[in-house]
Amino acid sequence: MCGIFAYLNYLTPKSRQEVLDLLVTGLKRLEYRGYDSTGVAIDSLDNKDIVMVKRTGKVKVLEDAIKEHFSGGEYSEPVLTHMGIAHTRWATHGVPCERNSHPQRSDEGNSFVVVHNGIITNYNDVKTFLSKKGYEFESETDTEVFAKLVHHLWKKHPNYSFRELVEQAIQQVEGAFAIAVKSKHFPGECVASRRSSPLLVGIKTKTRLATDHIPILYGKDDKKPSCDQDVDSSKASVLPRSDSTSEFMPEQKEVEYFFASDASAVIEHTNRVIYLEDDDVAAVRNGILSIHRLKKSLDDPHAREITTLKMEIQQIMKGNYEYFMQKEIFEQPDSVVNTMRGRVRFDGQSIVLGGIKDYIPEIKRCRRLMLIGCGTSYHSAVATRQLLEELTELPVMVELASDFLDRNTPIFRDDVCFFISQSGETADTLMALRYCKQRGALIVGITNTVGSSICRESHCGVHINAGPEIGVASTKAYTSQFISLVMFALVMSEDRLSLQQRRLEILQGLSKLAEQIREVLKLDNKVRELAKDLYQHKSLLIMGRGYNFATCLEGALKVKELTYMHSEGIMAGELKHGPLALVDDSMPVLMIVLRDPVYVKCMNALQQVTSRKGCPIIICEEGDEETKTFSSRHLEIPRTVDCLQGILTVIPMQLLSYHIAVLRGCDVDCPRNLAKSVTVE
Ligand code: AGP
Repeated sequence: MCGIFAYLNYLTPKSRQEVLDLLVTGLKRLEYRGYDSTGVAIDSLDNKDIVMVKRTGKVKVLEDAIKEHFSGGEYSEPVLTHMGIAHTRWATHGVPCERNSHPQRSDEGNSFVVVHNGIITNYNDVKTFLSKKGYEFESETDTEVFAKLVHHLWKKHPNYSFRELVEQAIQQVEGAFAIAVKSKHFPGECVASRRSSPLLVGIKTKTRLATDHIPILYGKDDKKPSCDQDVDSSKASVLPRSDSTSEFMPEQKEVEYFFASDASAVIEHTNRVIYLEDDDVAAVRNGILSIHRLKKSLDDPHAREITTLKMEIQQIMKGNYEYFMQKEIFEQPDSVVNTMRGRVRFDGQSIVLGGIKDYIPEIKRCRRLMLIGCGTSYHSAVATRQLLEELTELPVMVELASDFLDRNTPIFRDDVCFFISQSGETADTLMALRYCKQRGALIVGITNTVGSSICRESHCGVHINAGPEIGVASTKAYTSQFISLVMFALVMSEDRLSLQQRRLEILQGLSKLAEQIREVLKLDNKVRELAKDLYQHKSLLIMGRGYNFATCLEGALKVKELTYMHSEGIMAGELKHGPLALVDDSMPVLMIVLRDPVYVKCMNALQQVTSRKGCPIIICEEGDEETKTFSSRHLEIPRTVDCLQGILTVIPMQLLSYHIAVLRGCDVDCPRNLAKSVTVE
């Protein structure tokens, strides 16, 4: 949901062209977050104004426009200190067009320009207030009100610092935001803040920083009256004006700062980052970074830690693959091993999940397990529910985060709630987490993104270690989430004698998984041929049951989001209750029929389909000649233990949706209308 990138070089000479290159590269890394329009803002040549370039479409369009706009030699002159901001958008308020692209500005003179990720929910109130003060709005965005609000406060309080102005403004807005603000009245300065949307600051110095934290500065709690209680008298707060007493200064004067929605945009410049917390205001002035909060609460730490990122730049590059999604599908033999690395001891048949081990006794005493997520992350919960019920002997509820919130679901102190999210920033999942936390449940995060909001707000958790996932369609995160939940089930059943044989067969299955995934990936050419048969159709039904029902849901989601074809994951047991009416000799059908406890029932479903002249593609086990006789088109996958089949059966579905998308000319990594990280409700 929008990518923010800002770059500030202090006493580090960089030409405007270099700055623009940095901004565009940052946006390319964040493009997965939204890609319907883009924009940048830098200082004008005389440093008295701000120049913005905005375009509808992807970052490439902006890049071409920038080359045209800033081609003159004067743009290659070095500037000692400069601050530039950039944005890639996923539209929420207002259609994608240049007018609605960010940066949004405060006035025709570009006094303040803002890039924003999230939704300002009370923007209508603020807009009404500002309109009365004479402001005219040129976009349909919620972001524009923020730029104009800062401008209004600046006119009213000409002596306020840049940081104080932004601090005052964020007190007046509600909703979710990560923002970075640039001003021609405060050259070389940057102010950024976040509430419920991610934002981090990367720090680059010539030699390694000697400190590993930045102290937090708190405002004086002197309850100065709000400058703008009339924004909306029912909502306006009484604002204290903050006052800093100390500041953080790097040992070296030359320093570069990067503000970004996520670490993939800064890793090529620095691995030293600070993850901002809700309502932090980070300001850079005279090369000094300070982090402020208006009020101190009891559990606030005194400092924000400077984290060293472990990610490598190669991890976010496409390499020899055409698309990130393709690369991520083919990374799965390695990513599943990384999920288990250091946790599963195949020789000693033991599993240690360091992030939750201290909580296992408490989890064993719980009333029920709740697994909550959205989209693919939700499907990983569906895929593992049966095994969790079997090995934990606890009731397991699986919930879509949005529906869970709509229902005001009862939650108790002895519930254990798992929040599954690749990004760790999905708004619905995060809201559901906070809802359960307030009610006293134990919160377990299952995420792929270190430092994400879900990570930080959980009591404990499992990091799935799948590595950065850039393609909007989730692939390797799904298989790693799946394995993380299987490992959890194994931990929970460690001391159950009656379950030891079952545990052993699952552990053996896990040990062979990487090799078996490699085997499945060899089906790629065959899957491409099947895609050629399917890509011109309007619909694809995917049927299965038991451990493979989740694969049907996940496969159908992949087909929908990547190919824009209709697709439905159908529980085979439900066929005769309706979906069978769709089946005829022209309806494309794919069926998963494996030799597991529901094999006979699946064969019944297969016969129901073939007797309606359906000609399904069958996913079956290697060497299963009997099942293969039902169709000339089949994909054979290696045999594994029933509860792990879903990891192998989902891979042909990932490949199939990928190839259909390519054949239909769709943008594989950036499907229309979608974004990788859904940070709005
Ligand atoms: C998956 O292909 C989708 N793009 C989407 O369903 C995704 O899984 C969902 O938005 C949840 O994201 P999360 O895992 O980052 O929370």
